[in-house]
Amino acid sequence: MKETQAGTDYLKLGVMGDPIGHSKSPAMHNAALAALNLQGAYIPLHIRPERLGDAIESVKTLGFRGVNVTIPHKVEVMRYLDAIDEGAARIGAVNTIVNDNGRLTGYNTDGIGYVRSLKEEACPDLKGKRIAVLGAGGAARGIIYALIGEQPESISIINRTEDKAKALAQEWGTMAELHGCGEEHAKEVLSRAEVIINTTSVGMHPRISEMPVHPEWIPEGAVVSDLIYNPLKTELLLQSEQRNCTVHGGLGMFINQGAYALEYWTGLRAPVEAMKEAVLASLL
Ligand code: ATR
Repeated sequence: MKETQAGTDYLKLGVMGDPIGHSKSPAMHNAALAALNLQGAYIPLHIRPERLGDAIESVKTLGFRGVNVTIPHKVEVMRYLDAIDEGAARIGAVNTIVNDNGRLTGYNTDGIGYVRSLKEEACPDLKGKRIAVLGAGGAARGIIYALIGEQPESISIINRTEDKAKALAQEWGTMAELHGCGEEHAKEVLSRAEVIINTTSVGMHPRISEMPVHPEWIPEGAVVSDLIYNPLKTELLLQSEQRNCTVHGGLGMFINQGAYALEYWTGLRAPVEAMKEAVLASLL
């Protein structure tokens, strides 16, 4: 007889972070479980940094199939895992853990989730494109790693702190044509870019009128993408629309990083429409 509720057929999932109350992941994944007719739950887990090791151990003890990890645990969590996927190791951060009978493997679905969303919603073919990435932090690392797999002509990293952009370009320079520069070269780099991606927090709620670059530097007709999903359309995207650009917001990345995680846990194709509806409802 099949076990139910607390038993093996009950899919236990969650997200660990500090803070965690604002996370839209529980709403999104519980909607996905319902749409797939799976018995289970995805719960928010408020885990302070000093308890992270114990919390990861409890994933095994309590029989969770997997968890997401978010700020501030994405880097620190790696030392508690049994294996780390190659992409997550390169990026240096994990956001998804899969528990296979007590063996924990870490993945990073942020970058691949982002690229899937960019291709589906704004730019189907990134091959041979000149891409400019604004920012050189953790989010940029995940995205640039996934973009390299799409074989663009070049990726230029523009960052306020020039040294960070240059270091990142040098680190992965053998895998693709990468350049790093400071904001003083942004105008020149952007004039040649076909795809522009903002990975900085500039323009995020509540400072919604801020722009990561001067609007006049955005070339007419480019694809302009922003990782921010609150607001759904940032000032950068609003200004880019005025310049006949194709714009792409961060909501799709959030949905697709979750979709990949769910696919790792269940082996099933994620119901992205139901997930999107749930996130949009929770944003209202
Ligand atoms: P995340 O994991 O979200 O990428 P992060 O690692 O702290 O966060 O990186 C934030 C990125 O946004 C950095 O590239 C940062 O630039 P610096 O390297 O110069 O710090 C960039 N950033 C944040 N606030 C910014 C601002 N007001 N103007 C320009 N860039 C900013």
